[in-house]
Amino acid sequence: MKKILITGGAGFIGSHVVRRFVNTYPDIEIVNLDKLTYAGNLANLNDIEGQSNYRFVKADITDSEEINALFREENFDAVIHLAAESHVDRSITDPTAFVMTNVIGTVNLLNAAREFWKGDYDKKRFYHVSTDEVYGALGETGMFTETTAYDPHSPYSASKASSDHFVRAYHDTYGLDVVISNCSNNYGSHHFPEKLIPLAINNIKNNKPVPVYGKGENVRDWLWVEDHARAIDVIFHQAKTGETYNIGGHNEWKNIDLIMLLCKIMDEKLAREPGSSAKLITYVTDRAGHDLRYAIDSTKLQEKLDWVPSLQFEEGLAKTVDWYLENEEWLENVTSGQYKKYYEDQYTER
Ligand code: NAD
Ligand code: TYD
Repeated sequence: MKKILITGGAGFIGSHVVRRFVNTYPDIEIVNLDKLTYAGNLANLNDIEGQSNYRFVKADITDSEEINALFREENFDAVIHLAAESHVDRSITDPTAFVMTNVIGTVNLLNAAREFWKGDYDKKRFYHVSTDEVYGALGETGMFTETTAYDPHSPYSASKASSDHFVRAYHDTYGLDVVISNCSNNYGSHHFPEKLIPLAINNIKNNKPVPVYGKGENVRDWLWVEDHARAIDVIFHQAKTGETYNIGGHNEWKNIDLIMLLCKIMDEKLAREPGSSAKLITYVTDRAGHDLRYAIDSTKLQEKLDWVPSLQFEEGLAKTVDWYLENEEWLENVTSGQYKKYYEDQYTER
């Protein structure tokens, strides 16, 4: 039986990747390693908890001894690495946490792979999950391709860019079999409500102000999280060693247009007067160093590996709203305790 280590599997995207692999490949043992930070939540995986090819290990990727011990005990065939600090606003407040997990944590995993997979590099695979934010910001036109030069601006994107460079360096220097994918903004179920879409859904639901940074003119390219998980599956199994793939849905939205669409969907779902949710929109101070526009060219993935997004945005957004409205307990659990303090620190001074 093959054994894959998935890191960050209790988070938003990681939980979708773990679920997909556990359900699709009963002959592959999935070990989910997660520190369970504020963003990690085992309730995201309730539905697969009891499956015989799934196991959870609580560990911190910044702890090299812990990581080495795990690699010594388990004969992993591959790593799919998603564990990260992932929120740009938090990276502005505390960049060091991002260096520790995203850079040092990734290097710890690479070192363990290098050490414990020696002699077998051609049979093992290290898949690193990254972001389009490493490419920096676009103007009104153009798209990120796999050969766009790195130009990160936030501490988050700088730390992810750094980790990408280390992954490629371990391929070029030691011959590790690595694959990297850089994906655009994801949306869908189990998304922690510090990111734009789940935060706005939660606030609209509770009749609280919906904070829009600056003039709301920044553009993001949104992809349904399950389409991302499927792309990771396809790339993991089919990419050639050392390759990079961009993943995105050709689905650009100005923040304010997205929020207006969300308000319309929420009015309908909550049977509110048309236009009432939009009254909650509140323009707040812009994010420092706010990237204007991201847009991913995923032609390579579509043409070489035959992957295409499965959902139109309007449909995906409506499904996402339904999930949040049907999973009040999940939402209440993650927005109690520390979340309240985070929210006050992040939004009250603006
Ligand atoms: P997330 O914040 O929801 O989840 C991150 C997970 O990593 C959490 O479960 C957390 O507990 C775990 N983690 C954090 N620090 C850890 C540590 N030191 N040791 C072990 N586990 C730790 O993030 P996400 O949105 O699911 O993103 C997952 C990956 O995908 C990240 O690498 C991110 O850079 C990348 N990515 C995210 C997006 C997006 O739109 N969210 C887009 C492209 C790429
Ligand atoms: P976010 O979901 O944090 O993702 P990222 O910064 O990684 O793209 O933010 C998406 C966009 O929404 C980004 O342009 C910042 C903006 N934004 C707001 O306008 N208000 C908010 O409260 C948040 C969290 C984000």
